[in-house]
Amino acid sequence: MPNQFTILDVRDRIQEARSVTVLTGAGISADSGVPTFRGPEGLWKNFRPEELASPDAFARDPKLVWEWYNWRRELLATKQPNPAHDALVQLEKQIPNFRIITQNVDGLHASAGTQRLTEIHGNIWKVRCTQCHNITSNQEVPLPFPPTCTVCDGLLRPHIVWFGESLAPEDLEQSYAALQGCEVLLIIGTSGVVYPAASFAPVAKDHGAFVVELNLETTSNSSVVDVSFQGRAKELVPLLLKD
Ligand code: OAD
Repeated sequence: MPNQFTILDVRDRIQEARSVTVLTGAGISADSGVPTFRGPEGLWKNFRPEELASPDAFARDPKLVWEWYNWRRELLATKQPNPAHDALVQLEKQIPNFRIITQNVDGLHASAGTQRLTEIHGNIWKVRCTQCHNITSNQEVPLPFPPTCTVCDGLLRPHIVWFGESLAPEDLEQSYAALQGCEVLLIIGTSGVVYPAASFAPVAKDHGAFVVELNLETTSNSSVVDVSFQGRAKELVPLLLKD
């Protein structure tokens, strides 16, 4: 079915809104050269998530898990925000109530300059002590094994929400407030299969938001949203800004 709305209709709707929430996934960073998780080139094609991104995997073989995160940190250290990240920084300046909820752990929204940001899956540039739970920023690449806590000498782990773990309650609270209170929800570059983010479109819609999807392809969110545009994030997102 053809779209009832054009991208310019969506731009006008966003520009008139007082509150806009944006949910992003790996697709927005794909335009910076960061691999996504699913699909033919996705990370989960070559690696089993439960062997690398789970508490059991870390308990079994912390060195292997740290090798995987060091590999990703080395890759990410070479990547920059792209025009989609930059356009969202501009949008934040134009909309009174604005928040990005991201599933990405790459830190690219923050390095682009986004202020109102909830990183629901954590951040690969932060480490957390497995003993005292102290969280610190850490940009060292590669991080020598075993990385230890400066407070208690405990083993550090990536500050990432792994499979089988819960999101931080304060992140969930912030996310639901932003989803329930927004006039427009913009969903960019996520396959929409990982919960709870997979349920964010219906939450916003049930609270009266106009929900827009930008993705290379249709996803499990496409049947829920008001309008879905297919294309690259770096080309579509800048079209939503004022001339
Ligand atoms: P996926 O890899 O599941 O999905 C990426 C989505 O981006 C797909 O729907 C692609 O069609 C779309 N896409 C790719 N390139 C794009 C582009 N240039 N412009 C627009 N869209 C594009 O990634 P996520 O949905 O983010 O968990 O995955 C969710 C979670 O699963 C991740 O946060 C990660 C993973 O396990 C953790 O890191 C904890």
